[in-house]
Amino acid sequence: MKPIQNLFRICAVALFAVLFVGCAPKPNYSDNPEINRKVAELLSKMTLEEKIGQMNQYSGNEFTTGPQTDDTTVIKQIEKGQLGSMLNIVGAEKTRSYQEAALKSRLGIPLLFGLDVIHGFRTTFPIPLGEAASFDLAAIENGARCAAVEASAAGVHWTFAPMVDISRDARWGRVMEGAGEDPYYGALVAAARIKGFQGNDLEADNTIMACIKHFAAYGAPTAGIDYNTVDMSWGEFYNYYMPPYKAGAEAGVATFMNAFNDFNNVPCSGNTELVVDLLKGKWGFKGFVVSDWGSIGEMIPHGYAADKYDAAVKASSTSDMDMESRCYIEELANAVRDGKVKESVIDDAVARILTKKFEIGIFDDPFKYCNKEREDNLTLTAQTKNSARDMAKRSIVMLKNDNTLPLNKNIKSVAVIGALNDSKFDMKGNWAWPGDVESVVTVRKAFEDRGYKVNYAEGYSLETLKPTNVNEAIAAARNSDVVVVAIGERAMHSGEAYSKVELTISDEQQNLVAQLAKTGKPVITLVMGGRPLIFKEATENSGAVAMTWWLGSEAGNAICDVLFGDYNPSAKLPMTFPKRTGQSPICYNAKRSGRPSMLHYIDDDAKPAYAFGYGLSYSTFEIKDSKTSTQTIKGGEGVEVAFTLLNSGKVDGEEVVQVYVCDKVSSVTRPWKELKGYAKIELKAGQSSSSTIKLAPEAFGFYTNDGDFIYEKGEFDIFIGNSSDNLILVSTVTMK
Ligand code: NOJ
Repeated sequence: MKPIQNLFRICAVALFAVLFVGCAPKPNYSDNPEINRKVAELLSKMTLEEKIGQMNQYSGNEFTTGPQTDDTTVIKQIEKGQLGSMLNIVGAEKTRSYQEAALKSRLGIPLLFGLDVIHGFRTTFPIPLGEAASFDLAAIENGARCAAVEASAAGVHWTFAPMVDISRDARWGRVMEGAGEDPYYGALVAAARIKGFQGNDLEADNTIMACIKHFAAYGAPTAGIDYNTVDMSWGEFYNYYMPPYKAGAEAGVATFMNAFNDFNNVPCSGNTELVVDLLKGKWGFKGFVVSDWGSIGEMIPHGYAADKYDAAVKASSTSDMDMESRCYIEELANAVRDGKVKESVIDDAVARILTKKFEIGIFDDPFKYCNKEREDNLTLTAQTKNSARDMAKRSIVMLKNDNTLPLNKNIKSVAVIGALNDSKFDMKGNWAWPGDVESVVTVRKAFEDRGYKVNYAEGYSLETLKPTNVNEAIAAARNSDVVVVAIGERAMHSGEAYSKVELTISDEQQNLVAQLAKTGKPVITLVMGGRPLIFKEATENSGAVAMTWWLGSEAGNAICDVLFGDYNPSAKLPMTFPKRTGQSPICYNAKRSGRPSMLHYIDDDAKPAYAFGYGLSYSTFEIKDSKTSTQTIKGGEGVEVAFTLLNSGKVDGEEVVQVYVCDKVSSVTRPWKELKGYAKIELKAGQSSSSTIKLAPEAFGFYTNDGDFIYEKGEFDIFIGNSSDNLILVSTVTMK
């Protein structure tokens, strides 16, 4: 080659390098340019194996939240830089010892410690479905805040919460972890929980990263069976399941978790339409995505991947971190060397993970969250317990009250019946492994603490829920002024993998209530469970019935607060309670059909036992003079609904005023009614006040099947009321 040609070649190569290599996209996942620079610098020093190590997460054996792998070499692997994160390692001292191992690796990259902090940490709050019943976003945010303060002091950087999966099927046991069936409200709760966990500053030592899970549509498994296939149209997904995930991304959640199920025929852990196109693409999500436990490897039994190598290849752009399937650590480097996965895909995932490690400040101080003194001082404090009690009383939904409640404080004795009424473990609820059992206040204990003579009888065995010594329970009732009986399911009967084919509380438990009623004493039934249950006979035999979910550390105190009227119940059901199991799935916002009057079964109608948004107060409220701010709008404009609320009862209380919208005719089928705004208003007895509920412009639009959000001209009915089945028409607004 002639020198001049040679020179030309060199210049061309240099120009190419400047244009393409020099301009290779730099990691840009933080708002802080300094962090982006540090991530790029660190990435440039890492070997392929070290990068893949960052994408690898194992579980410790403190809690078992998935199929545990017996691995005695974890510490050695950490020291070699083969792990980026651990879950289920808790406590300032324990996390410190693992972090020390990470610092011995060649580049000393600290570990992330993740944990399922679902409803509280050591102080346990009500299960999320119960909290959602409060319709009180400030209280929900505060619950997450308290959990973050306790967990961050115990070395936890990252919670796998909130679970925001919309579900209309109470057979699916994980409804307990979510906010119920409504997309609008679910989105608000998602944002509140993220704010509570993450605060305004991820770097603060009392905040933890949140994780929106499970992406996507995990709450709609066929036949309500956990892990089952999901079959859903995109239109259905965009309008009724997607909003809480999107709200989470918009609220700045640090991470997302893939779902176990498939979506549109592809397992979510390898679903590029969901993760690459929608989450990271359209929504511009800058955090990282962790798989669910083993879900990358589970693409093999799904029949979507041939082996671990294939699974690693297929998940590489959709799961940045592999929780426990070990596909990445075993196969991803080979796949890169074989040219099956581009190293730029690995760099992208690692950059996202490292960005979060920089943002929470563990490069500067790897031990900032492992602080024994903070752990001792900030855990189970009077403040966290007060918050838990406040949240718990706001979560109790009064379903029936024939003037039986509130109880007269002058009663002398109470028959506390039902083993669930005295089970600390159950009161805590599922998904509360770190919760302190000893300090849980049961219903029995709370009555005793208030100085009442408590005649306690188990009524049924906790192990089998079958009756034991019913005569003793009847005698206790006869000897008492009132009867408080707990029926339902055990805490561990809802949650992951706890799907049910029957939602009806057993005949034996319901008969127990009937027999107690025969004593002629006032019977108050507490329904305990993590999901909508069916309990018609028990209701008929009770003077009052309250849904008390699993209320956490302060359950008994909160229940007594409500039973004695120290707190006037204000919660509303965030999920429809069916009348018969065969009605599942069931929801208030079902789409319209061509034969509405024929939507029934030959052996029953299609009405629920209790509608979404239902819940009683000791007071009565009247909504008057409701009107909209306008009769006509354009696409992109909202509407205000003004009304006067009167507390027409004899006690102070709170009412959740709800506004629903019906898009009367549109180019796709739409529901009869959709919640689009609400206000929780506190009023003294006899007091009235004027308020306004703002309906955002989005209340009058919808997603097309292609995922575009559009507004269409036409009429919208606007309804107001205190339950989805107790509404009046405010006005019909026309979009021009
Ligand atoms: C599996 C569950 O589906 C997920 O929600 C949880 O975060 C992980 N296990 C880790 O415990």
